[in-house]
Amino acid sequence: MSKKFFVTTPIYYINDLPHIGHAYATFAADILIRYHKLLGEKTLLLTGSDENSQKTLDAAKKRGVTVEDYSSGMVANWQSTWGKLQIADGEFKFVRTTNIDHAKFVQDFFQKIYDNGYIEEGVYEGLYCVGHEAFIKESDLDESGVCPDHKTKPQLLKEKNYFFKLKDFSKQLLELYSKNPDFILPTERRNEVVSFVRSGLENISISREGSSWGIKVPFDQNQVIYVWFDALLSYYSTTSKEFWPADVHIIGKDILRFHAVIWPAMLLAAGFENYLPKKIFAHGFFTITGTKISKSLGNAIDPIKVSEEFGLDTLRYFLFKELPFGHDGDFSLERLREIYNSDLANGLGNLVSRVAKLAESLDLTGVRENKTPLFDSTFRIHLDKLEFHQALEYIWKKIKDADKKLESTKPWELVKTDKEAAAAIVENLILQVIEIQELLLPFIPDTAEKIRLQFSKSKIKSTKPLFPRK
Ligand code: MSP
Repeated sequence: MSKKFFVTTPIYYINDLPHIGHAYATFAADILIRYHKLLGEKTLLLTGSDENSQKTLDAAKKRGVTVEDYSSGMVANWQSTWGKLQIADGEFKFVRTTNIDHAKFVQDFFQKIYDNGYIEEGVYEGLYCVGHEAFIKESDLDESGVCPDHKTKPQLLKEKNYFFKLKDFSKQLLELYSKNPDFILPTERRNEVVSFVRSGLENISISREGSSWGIKVPFDQNQVIYVWFDALLSYYSTTSKEFWPADVHIIGKDILRFHAVIWPAMLLAAGFENYLPKKIFAHGFFTITGTKISKSLGNAIDPIKVSEEFGLDTLRYFLFKELPFGHDGDFSLERLREIYNSDLANGLGNLVSRVAKLAESLDLTGVRENKTPLFDSTFRIHLDKLEFHQALEYIWKKIKDADKKLESTKPWELVKTDKEAAAAIVENLILQVIEIQELLLPFIPDTAEKIRLQFSKSKIKSTKPLFPRK
């Protein structure tokens, strides 16, 4: 039986259209899927829509449409975005939290935790931020009493709720982190979570009273299940058990506690200890030309537009080369153009076109089948740790090495005196290009495929540049 690989992106809220921040995590998942697929594994990429949120209702109301119409329109938009961005070659699973099977799974899970004694009734008195869909503290607010991220006043709640006994899992969580040092990556994020849990957990409210929107608590029709409890379960609710547990959850750093603390505790409470995810990777945030992505500023970048202008592979390359995965960074079109010219046009594109031209002039045959094993150990280590930036640097070092070899051996001059020696050098360079092409497959698949086609023909021919200078 072949190995399986299951990666998830966050299940996105649909009160907005997908922007570059969402595409970032989804491309990262796609890189992993392509890589594991090439290793011969059975793969699954799960993404979806987190619909049972107050935000969905508010957005529908604002547009004067029913929530069902609003949601199905937005979902179609998100799905078509992932299709246009060629996520997982179109073979991803998209879960909707309004799906009936999902709701049933969530209710059964809630019941199981209740039966296991980890849910109790209580009264929640405090603040709730709809933007975050989270219970927040006075100390989270800014001086004027609003949520610093959403600039909105939190709701003041006093209501009967069901509470999840998160506190009971402190010890098991700390054991989980210490036994699995790569459970939360990058390491700084892991340390943050460990000290958060060490500082003492509180039981958390996992239901809301009197709301009409959401999945009902199975034994109390007056309560709906807290949207995060519902959303986290979407990773498993409609996926086949053969893929469990998730190999990697890719998330942004803002939603780390939900994933690294609450989610494993929920699984432990339900007796799902065999299905704890293997890894949670929290990436950083990026700004757009120095400013925060915000609806009011209208500076959200549409990934489809950028890919139409510069090419999908350029966007993919830029996102993972420019911003080390896990760090914060800035996205600017000016920088994208610079990187395009330096790394893609002058770096990769130039090497490929020079080698192809030389091969054509020497009448060389392409490589039909590469004998070397796919992906060397350094590259594998980088991808297993989601070190995309380092993996790309590793490939670009190979490009530079091949360039240096070209410059030092000058086969275009050597050919005048020793054609055979020149051909031997170029044949070697072709093998180097093929090696680079294979390493590029998970990152820039269309370009890698073009190079493969060009260098596997019975007669290698030069073609138009892969990346014309802009
Ligand atoms: N619905 C929840 C996730 C539930 S997962 C069980 C959610 N949705 S979201 O649509 O608000 O955000 C999805 C992801 O987008 C988050 O991981 C967040 O970090 C990411 N990003 C939103 N803005 C971003 C940037 N400016 N930069 C990078 N990623 C950003 O949270």
